[in-house]
Amino acid sequence: MIKKFIQGLPKVELHLHIEGSLEPELMFKLAQRNNINIPFNDPNEVAKAYEFENLQSFLDIYYQGANVLIHEQDFFDLTWAYLLRCKQDNVIHTEIFFDPQTHTARGIQFSTIINGIDRALKQAEQELNITSNLIMSFLRHLDEDAAFETLAQALQHKDKIIAVGLDSSEQGNPPNKFQYVFQQALKEGFLTVAHAGEEGPASYITEALNLLKVSRIDHGVRCVDDLELLEHLITHKIALTVCPLSNIKLRVFEHMEQHNIVSLLRKNVCVTINSDDPAYFGGYITNNFLAVAQAQEMNLDEIAQFTYNAINASFINHDEKIRLT
Ligand code: HPA
Ligand code: ZN
Repeated sequence: MIKKFIQGLPKVELHLHIEGSLEPELMFKLAQRNNINIPFNDPNEVAKAYEFENLQSFLDIYYQGANVLIHEQDFFDLTWAYLLRCKQDNVIHTEIFFDPQTHTARGIQFSTIINGIDRALKQAEQELNITSNLIMSFLRHLDEDAAFETLAQALQHKDKIIAVGLDSSEQGNPPNKFQYVFQQALKEGFLTVAHAGEEGPASYITEALNLLKVSRIDHGVRCVDDLELLEHLITHKIALTVCPLSNIKLRVFEHMEQHNIVSLLRKNVCVTINSDDPAYFGGYITNNFLAVAQAQEMNLDEIAQFTYNAINASFINHDEKIRLT
């Protein structure tokens, strides 16, 4: 009953790294097509290697996987495969991240990356009836100058990018490291978001709000460590894009029974359910909903509230939000 309800529920995804949707089968296909060596013999071996201890142990494998992406068509194929999964999961709107620096560092042109992704997103709007927005994420383990260079490359593609974000290794790379590049991005008309309070402390969430002027927080589950911050999130309806299966795989919580998303929902925090890197964490958005609902009892109104929250927290325009709710 709950399963059917979740399957049929229209969904909006706000936290998805397109590179993290690279399934082992496609990784193999692209490795062969592009003559790239990967340290695995077959897709099963790849899937078996996905045992992580923390965020960094995942990131090491995730950046390695992205090496098979070379041509515009590869970025198209990657994005299109994700969008077909969206259709199965009844996702009506999605806002996806891409990490240009992961690719430009290997000599791939910024335009190759973004044109492939953008073509798939436009085709999905026409053929699959799925709308989308694209968010460019800076890698926070790199320095702010590198982020400035990436922002400069993005200016020619302003029409394809709605916001800038911040991801990769959180601890030791606080939001304040990127204060000036985010200021510049805001001046150029981009919205801002940032990963904060996944492994890092609640103070990173506060910094992201105050210094980076973010419209929402990616992950943010550590907000519970600062009651003043928690009140602020509730009063100002600041959304958290929570990724339950990711949090279990990366050991942010030991078991789904201990995850704080349902408790946050009941405190009226604007929490949403998302898949983060579904090819690595064992499930797309429907599976994330199911995993939470199986571990913690919720009524149907509570489950549907995740979609209402996601519509409200999305970057679609006001009239469109009214139409969808
Ligand atoms: N956290 C930080 N960086 C990331 C993640 C994440 O969950 N996924 C991909 N890059
Ligand atoms: Zn993420």
